[in-house]
Amino acid sequence: MSGLATSIVLATSVLLMLLWGKSHKTHSTSNDPALCRQIIAGVLKHKTQSNILSPHQAKAIANRHLPIAFGIDNAFTRSDSIHTSMFVEKVKPMINLSAEQWHSVSEFARVTTNHWIEHSFPGLDHSCGNSSHKEQSKVRNKISVDHNCIKVASLAQILSLKIVLWQIFDQKTQDKTCDESLLKLAQSINRVWVSSKVKSNDNDIPKFEGDVLLQTSLENVFGKHDRPEDNPLNLILPSFETMWRVVLRTFLEIKFASGK
Ligand SMILES: *[C@@H]1O[C@H](CO)[C@@H](O)[C@H](O)[C@H]1NC(C)=O
Ligand SMILES: *[C@@H]1O[C@H](CO)[C@@H](O)[C@H](O)[C@H]1NC(C)=O
Repeated sequence: MSGLATSIVLATSVLLMLLWGKSHKTHSTSNDPALCRQIIAGVLKHKTQSNILSPHQAKAIANRHLPIAFGIDNAFTRSDSIHTSMFVEKVKPMINLSAEQWHSVSEFARVTTNHWIEHSFPGLDHSCGNSSHKEQSKVRNKISVDHNCIKVASLAQILSLKIVLWQIFDQKTQDKTCDESLLKLAQSINRVWVSSKVKSNDNDIPKFEGDVLLQTSLENVFGKHDRPEDNPLNLILPSFETMWRVVLRTFLEIKFASGK
């Protein structure tokens, strides 16, 4: 009798779990580019059901961790289309460059990178060296100059961030001494980006208010801001966070995969 009861309870539990799992399947994954484009555009229909969310609402829900982790308020986190249109109108001219302007950007990137390679790269954690390297950099004081060792990921991060400053924030003269602050900012953004993505529970999302390191590194470059809508990260996240990974991948492909 108790065996039968147990079986019934077990079977019911399994059934409930299956139903629960089905109704709570919020993630779609696919290798089909056409399907992926539909998901990104927020127009994927599930069988006969139509979307009850607008594309902006859907995007805002998927990005709800970003205002908490970065204190931002932009087109990717708002659900209203008016704000989004204003954001797009503001950003469009910033990235609509002529061929000559693209050339200036690439020249700036080339000159900056050459300078790092020939002089010094703003190193922070020196983790590619061992303890004796660390001792050497202590002796040399402040920034370590290690001609043999530049972390490619750091280079891709700081270079992408410098281009964002140049292009989006119109900082055409950039003080070399602020490179180290930029690298700190890039590393803070990446740290928070990764940890805000892996959290499954909303309560575990890292909080911008409590993150002194991220706030300080942001202030060192951009000064203080009061409201989330004035947060420089509103523009930096979309222009930098994915871009530096593309830059790194491109560098690796050209340098290593092509065998050149
Ligand atoms: C980009 O700039 C060019 C030249 O200034 C202009 O003709 C074109 O309409 C702009 N495109 C967009 C999408 O704003
Ligand atoms: C650290 O570097 C020094 C020379 O730069 C080398 O002699 C030593 O073996 C290295 N130690 C380790 C643990 O790699």
